[in-house]
Amino acid sequence: VCRGFSSSAVRNVVIKHVTIIGSGQMGAGIAQVAASTGHSVTLVDTSDDILKKSVKGIEGSLRRVVKKKFADKPEAGEEFIQKVLQNVSTSTDAGSVVQGSDLVLEAIVENLKIKQDIFGQLDKVAPQHTIFASNTSSLPISDIASSTSRLDRFGGLHFFNPVPMMKLVEVIGTSATSQETFDSLLNFSKVLGKTPVSCKDTPGFIVNRLLVPYIMEAVRLHERGHGSKEDIDIAMKLGAGYPMGPLELADFVGLDTAKFIIDGWSAMDPSNPLFAPSELLNKKVAEGKLGRKTGEGFYKYK
Ligand code: NAI
Repeated sequence: VCRGFSSSAVRNVVIKHVTIIGSGQMGAGIAQVAASTGHSVTLVDTSDDILKKSVKGIEGSLRRVVKKKFADKPEAGEEFIQKVLQNVSTSTDAGSVVQGSDLVLEAIVENLKIKQDIFGQLDKVAPQHTIFASNTSSLPISDIASSTSRLDRFGGLHFFNPVPMMKLVEVIGTSATSQETFDSLLNFSKVLGKTPVSCKDTPGFIVNRLLVPYIMEAVRLHERGHGSKEDIDIAMKLGAGYPMGPLELADFVGLDTAKFIIDGWSAMDPSNPLFAPSELLNKKVAEGKLGRKTGEGFYKYK
């Protein structure tokens, strides 16, 4: 297993049991992938109802995977689904389940205080060796970690939506993250079948640092009257080979999410023109036009 890794890999924590806090879009996706690759996963959320829905969602997603993968062997497919689901348990009490966890991965609402509170509490009850990681898209990992006393065993694991499909994981180390922790997170990502990249704890890491300013500049370009939304999207699809134009992408991501991220960065570094807000975006969000999920953003959806 350790072939090709540095000698420090020998001391890495081998991650077998994972507690995932937050069973929403991202948490459920990560749980599915971790359970499918033989990890024992405990999914935590605020109510049994939410957890039930989430596990149902995982089962549905597994059925879609199996339909393709086991097209000519439906029994083997069904066996695979049951085996994966057996690897997933649920709880509404993180404190009572982290005892056996090698990794606690948080994927709850994008709110610093709430994330800090959860990690602060779990830090007191989780075993020494347990690594903590956040799936945050826009908050500094070091700010989240500051509520704990395990700064060396704290990092970022940033997955992409939909998790079962998207190959990338950004692994984020703060200035306090130990090499062992970082290597364990890299290794875990590979065992999940993903391709990890190493990132510093800077706004947006790599992907969103490039993508969000790009989307925002497309919004501003449109706002300045320098291009229709259709022309901007066609231009980037046919001229740059992107599968989606930037305004379609904004609608897909959610305009509230885009606004939340850019507002946060702008507050951190107001003089950076890449982080400048847009009145048009703010107006759309105020009107509840949040993109695909509300049926209208830059475009209308049925
Ligand atoms: P979501 O809203 O689908 O899921 C969040 C879940 O956390 C909900 O089920 C909620 O009930 C639960 N939750 C809230 N407070 C909790 C608490 N105190 N204890 C336990 N569970 C709690 O959100 P989503 O989209 O899955 O995002 C989660 C995190 O992942 C955020 O930090 C976001 O920035 C990040 N992220 C999101 C991506 C996306 O495309 N949606 C991509 C990559 C990262």
